[in-house]
Amino acid sequence: MTSKTKGQGAKERTAVPAKHVRRELLPDQSAALLQELHLLTRTGDLNADAHRKLKQINHLAGMLGPDLDAMFERVAEPKLLDAGAGNAYLGFVLYELHFAPRKRGEVLSVEVRPDLVARAKERAQRLHYDRMRFLDKPLAELTADVQADFVVALHACDTATDDAIAHGIHTQAPVIAVVPCCQAEVARLLQGGSAVHRSLGPLWRHPIQRREFGAHLTNVIRGLVLESHGYQVTVTELTGWEHSLKNELILARKVQKRNGLAIQQLGALLGDLPPLDMKLLRDVPAPV
Ligand SMILES: C[S@@+](CC[C@H](N)C(=O)[O-])C[C@H]1O[C@@H](n2cnc3c(N)ncnc32)[C@H](O)[C@@H]1O
Repeated sequence: MTSKTKGQGAKERTAVPAKHVRRELLPDQSAALLQELHLLTRTGDLNADAHRKLKQINHLAGMLGPDLDAMFERVAEPKLLDAGAGNAYLGFVLYELHFAPRKRGEVLSVEVRPDLVARAKERAQRLHYDRMRFLDKPLAELTADVQADFVVALHACDTATDDAIAHGIHTQAPVIAVVPCCQAEVARLLQGGSAVHRSLGPLWRHPIQRREFGAHLTNVIRGLVLESHGYQVTVTELTGWEHSLKNELILARKVQKRNGLAIQQLGALLGDLPPLDMKLLRDVPAPV
């Protein structure tokens, strides 16, 4: 078998015919919405790529469910910010599952590509999802008046995840959940840099290991920044690796003003590394 046919085989195996699609859906999820989003084909099948996307979104929706329920208990008109929303699939799914049945709250999708925003807006109109709003602008340009009770970023590219975290921290969002995407910034900053402890240098000597280590370090720093600002952080796997390689869910809940231990840990970690002029560290300095 050539690698091409192997690859095609793998793809075929993950497509789901219409008659079996129901078992891929969450209990209150409609096939009609997924058809409107073009995640299902006209004949109701789920092709391999859409299947992977749906798995990611549904796993995330499931894992965020308890925090979303808690938000609705706490807040009369809660606002969820979907950062780097792309086609806003996640926002549509969360709206159908949580916002539509309760008839309250709002989903705000922020996406830098105007074409995607225009299409998502049209879909929301067709669906009468009138408490979905859309902004086409870079996340870094969000102003403090864009307050959210829940910030979520699914695979927002590179430092866009950091912009979502920074906005959430600055506006004191009670919950921030990110599943980071590809990350290049820290690997780039590590290149050629020498560690304070020379024994650490080999961790990022080879490009492929630098990329992996850079991605890991980025997420460790993200967690510590969130903890420093008083968030309790859990880090878990989103879904099986066969559905996505970008698979780490960082879920942060605001529980206190600041966390001195995390501030110290972050400082000590950064002190052992080459100077890392990371955007997140510039945008969100340690709290005093
Ligand atoms: C990989 S896609 C993920 C989309 C969606 N969250 C999902 O999981 O289906 C990343 C999206 O983030 C958007 N994006 C990248 N940088 C951004 C920024 N600085 N501000 C807003 N959106 C951004 C891209 O245009 C793209 O649509």
